[in-house]
Amino acid sequence: MLRIGMLTSGGDCQALNAAMRGVVKGVCSKCDDVEIYGFQDGYKGLIYGNFEMLSSKDFSGILTRGGTILGTSRQPFKLMRVPDENGLDKVEAMKHTYHKLCLDCLVILGGNGTHKTANLLREEGLNIITLPKTIDNDLWGTDMTFGFQSAVDIATDTIDRIHTTATSHSRVFIVEVMGHKVGHVTLHAGIAGGADVILLPEIPYDIEVIVDVIQNRSKAGKAFTIIAVAEGAISKEDAKLKKKEYKEKLANRKDPSIAYELAEQIRERTDKEVRITVPGHTQRGGSPCPFDRVFATRMGAAASELILKKEYGYMIGNKNGKTIKVPLQDVAGKLKYVDPECGLIKEAKMVGISFGS
Ligand code: F6P
Repeated sequence: MLRIGMLTSGGDCQALNAAMRGVVKGVCSKCDDVEIYGFQDGYKGLIYGNFEMLSSKDFSGILTRGGTILGTSRQPFKLMRVPDENGLDKVEAMKHTYHKLCLDCLVILGGNGTHKTANLLREEGLNIITLPKTIDNDLWGTDMTFGFQSAVDIATDTIDRIHTTATSHSRVFIVEVMGHKVGHVTLHAGIAGGADVILLPEIPYDIEVIVDVIQNRSKAGKAFTIIAVAEGAISKEDAKLKKKEYKEKLANRKDPSIAYELAEQIRERTDKEVRITVPGHTQRGGSPCPFDRVFATRMGAAASELILKKEYGYMIGNKNGKTIKVPLQDVAGKLKYVDPECGLIKEAKMVGISFGS
């Protein structure tokens, strides 16, 4: 008898279901006696003992379905050691649920915050295997996360659509792309969508450089400019602020997000009309793209192998096209940023894309 707990935590993304299907199909193809406990809404389900017993048939037909059949929620790592409103010790509660159900292991699908808690549970003696989920592609230790390519497709489609309307108007169009503190989605969608300017958190921008790009394009007869800006992009001035000062500035920002702040700065400096598009959570929605279906299936299958071998304490990842296992303690608490010196950025600059610096 193999008892596997499973949960999806943090923001959802495409291919969560595909990855869980991969795990279950992999395990069930080698072992007849499997019980699957699906915890509802992420760590919340583990804390409060909310779960559903699932069988392999619950994982059939979900390869192409977006979202997560288990539901998810954000349970910040920094609050994990803080008792809930009824004084419940969350970590002890999670351990209690795990032991009460006599689980052999817990499969956790999540991004950065999720991995910090997964590692904490490992330190507390639970058998944990994780899968790399996030549209942001910012998990340390893996070249790729599932959800990323699907989000890039959607953000690219948004920029493509902006492109056709942009050619009819002499305007500046700003498309704000998700990605939290990193710029992977913006960089890829920006290049794929032919953006003229790409602004990333990793490369603080100078507004005067952006204005020059707009004016130079106008002089060259290119009446419109498309700017792909990461939601976490930051100006050179703001990058000089201390972390606390910058947080305070963001908290008091009158504009809803960076795209609006940027638009205002461009309007003040040029005679251009500026329009803003924020695709927001559409970037996490819909069916996973074929790449993500394949990638998530591979990750799930590799997790099933570790479960069957009883090898715990790893995140499944991918390096140079090869599936790998990465110790959880190495992953937890680290972000994978865009390297401003990487080949992709150098090549993007070679074709005239400005990074505003
Ligand atoms: O981490 C995925 C992500 O979509 C980020 O790109 C974005 O900053 C954040 O989640 C949005 O979170 P929420 O769904 O909680 O608004």
